[in-house]
Amino acid sequence: MIGIIIGESPAIHELNQMIRRVAATKTNILVIGESGTGKELVARKIHESGALKDFPFVPVNCGAIPENLIESEMFGHQKGSFTGAVSEKQGLFEVAHRGTLFLDEVGELSLAMQVKLLRAIQERVFKRVGGITDIRVDVRIIAATNRDLEAAVKNGTFREDLYYRLNVILIKTPPLRERKTDIPLLAHHFLKKLIAKTSKTIDGFDDEALTSIQNYSWPGNVRELENCIDRAITLESGSKISEDSLPPRVQEASQILTNSKAGQQGQDKGDKKEIRLPYPDFSKGPLNLDEVLSSVEKIYVEAVLHYTDGNKKKSADLLGITLRSLRYRMSKMGLGPADKD
Ligand SMILES: Nc1ncnc2c1ncn2[C@@H]1O[C@H](COP(=O)(O)OP(=O)(O)OP(=O)(O)O)[C@@H](O)[C@H]1O
Ligand SMILES: [Mg+2]
Repeated sequence: MIGIIIGESPAIHELNQMIRRVAATKTNILVIGESGTGKELVARKIHESGALKDFPFVPVNCGAIPENLIESEMFGHQKGSFTGAVSEKQGLFEVAHRGTLFLDEVGELSLAMQVKLLRAIQERVFKRVGGITDIRVDVRIIAATNRDLEAAVKNGTFREDLYYRLNVILIKTPPLRERKTDIPLLAHHFLKKLIAKTSKTIDGFDDEALTSIQNYSWPGNVRELENCIDRAITLESGSKISEDSLPPRVQEASQILTNSKAGQQGQDKGDKKEIRLPYPDFSKGPLNLDEVLSSVEKIYVEAVLHYTDGNKKKSADLLGITLRSLRYRMSKMGLGPADKD
C-alpha cells in the first residue's frame, strides 16, 4: 500500500479527481511537474486504484540507466547477445505484463531509444536484444518528467510521435508554492510518519517554526519538505519542532513576515524591532512580489494599530494614508471588515 495524497487545496482535489477518473482506464498517461511534487506517488496511486492493481507496477528510471544497457533493461536479452549477457534475461516490459510500466524521467531517453520505445508501445511487440522471436505484452505506460517536453519536441531532442503516444492524458503535479495551504498539513503528516520511526516524542511545531515552513518557497517541493522535517526531528531536543532545528534557508524565510528577534536580544534595544528581508534569490524560481509587499504592508499596519491601541484614525494619520485606505487595506489583509468606526 502506498500513502495517501495529502492536501486540501483545490489543486490537490483536482488531482485526486483526475486520478480516480483515469484509474479505471488503460490509457497512457504523462505526468509532468517539478522535482519532488509527487509524480511517482501519482503514478502508483493510479495503478493501485485501478483495474491493474493485482498486476505489477514496474518503475524504470530512464535517466539513471547507462545508454548501453537501457535497451536490454527494457526489452531483455538472449544469453551471449553482448559481453556480460551471461544468461537470458527478461526486460522490464515483460516484467510489467498486464500491469503498469512507469517510465520516470522519460525526457532523458536518447533519440535512438525513443524510436525503440515508440515501436514497442505502438505495436505492443518487441524483440529481446539478440533475440529473434517477437514478444507480445500488454502494459499501460505512465511516463513522468520534470522537463518541458513540448520544448524538447520543438528543438528536436524528443520525438513528436512518441510525445503524442505518451501524452494521451496529461496530469500536472502542482508545485508546493502554489498550494501553500497544504504546507502545514504535509508538515504534520511527515512529522507523524517520521516520528513513529524514532523513540522521540515531538508533538508539533512551535509558531515560529511553522511560520518559516509556511513562508519558504520549497523549490524542491514535497520531497524537500519531507527531508527538512526528518532533519528537524533528528536535531530537535524539545517537545515541539523549533525554528533552530530547521535548515538556515528555511529559517530565513520567516524574516519576510515576522519582526526580527531584536527585542529579545537585548534590553538596550527596547522594543524597537526591525524588519529584515532576505536578499532576493532569483535562482530559486519566480518570487511573488505582491506577496512580499503585502507582508511588509501587514507588518506596518499591525504595528501602527498596536501603537495607537487600535485607533484607526490616528493609525491612518501616522501611516500618511486616508482612513478609507487603511480600512480597505485592513479588510484585504483579513484584519476585520471594512467597517465604519
Ligand atoms: N501530496 C502528497 N502527500 C503525501 N506525500 C507526498 C505528496 N506529494 C509527494 N509526497 C511524497 O514526497 C516524496 C516525493 O514524491 P515523488 O517521489 O512522487 O516526487 P517526484 O515528482 O517523482 O520527484 P522527482 O522529480 O524528484 O523524482 C515522496 O516521499 C512522496 O511520497
Ligand atoms: Mg520521481
